Amino acid sequence: MEAAPPTILCRGVTKRYDLGARSVEALRGVDLSLDGAGFYAVMGSSGSGKSTLMHLVAGLDRPTSGEVTVAGERVDRMSEAQLTLFRRRKIGIVFQHFNLLPSMSALDNVMLPALLDGMPRAASESRARELLEELGVAQRADHRPDALSGGEQQRVAIARALFFAPPVILADEPTGNLDSAAAARLFALLSQIARAHRTLLLMVTHEPAAAANCERVVVLRDGTVAGAFSTENLDAGALALRAQELARPAR
Ligand SMILES: Nc1ncnc2c1ncn2[C@@H]1O[C@H](COP(=O)(O)OP(=O)(O)OP(=O)(O)O)[C@@H](O)[C@H]1O
Ligand SMILES: [Mg+2]
Repeated sequence: MEAAPPTILCRGVTKRYDLGARSVEALRGVDLSLDGAGFYAVMGSSGSGKSTLMHLVAGLDRPTSGEVTVAGERVDRMSEAQLTLFRRRKIGIVFQHFNLLPSMSALDNVMLPALLDGMPRAASESRARELLEELGVAQRADHRPDALSGGEQQRVAIARALFFAPPVILADEPTGNLDSAAAARLFALLSQIARAHRTLLLMVTHEPAAAANCERVVVLRDGTVAGAFSTENLDAGALALRAQELARPAR
């Protein structure tokens, strides 16, 4: 039997932003291979390229050079039409800003990608209700986002990300707009979801306590992968030290 391809594979990935006369090298050769499912943290100083990497894996932007493969598919080579389907079916995305449509109920927000995909309303509604239930916001199904707390909005966004059971879920500072109690509950929930849905959940975070919920931490430094380590037997303090050592520029 052939071995399954890595869930996320980046090879020599660079990303340069050209801003008129100036250009920024946001990624300078990222090599990263993540297998199977699990909960991974991405850490690194501000400007180290974390969000840029998430955008490239999500197919929201293209690398300047290098390969980005998700579940065996070359994302960097997809046409716009292929990218639209890829983003809808193969990737779940959770942002710091909850990105829900303000005029729609929680239920409709969760169902939207399915309706765009041509799934019959009854089937998509029952799937959406099941996910809202799992995320503990079933009672809020008819509320619009502005009638939900930040934590509830983020749960709805996660339900939407899970709709097509994607192999990969990307979360960029998902608790950046939540208070610390709501954030702690959300991290526990994300960890449970990664296991229950057998998905690879890749989460950008600045919080060592959040990364401690993950199995591994990948640290970016100046647009490259500085290193990665297992969180096994590390408390938040030890994890923070480890991440800081890797994130610090070598002198
Ligand atoms: N659209 C863009 N146009 C120009 N430069 C950009 C763009 N997006 C990011 N950059 C630059 O690329 C570098 C990496 O940015 P990125 O947003 O990936 O960092 P980050 O690690 O996510 O930082 P933070 O922790 O602050 O979110 C930075 O120097 C940033 O200014
Ligand atoms: Mg960022």
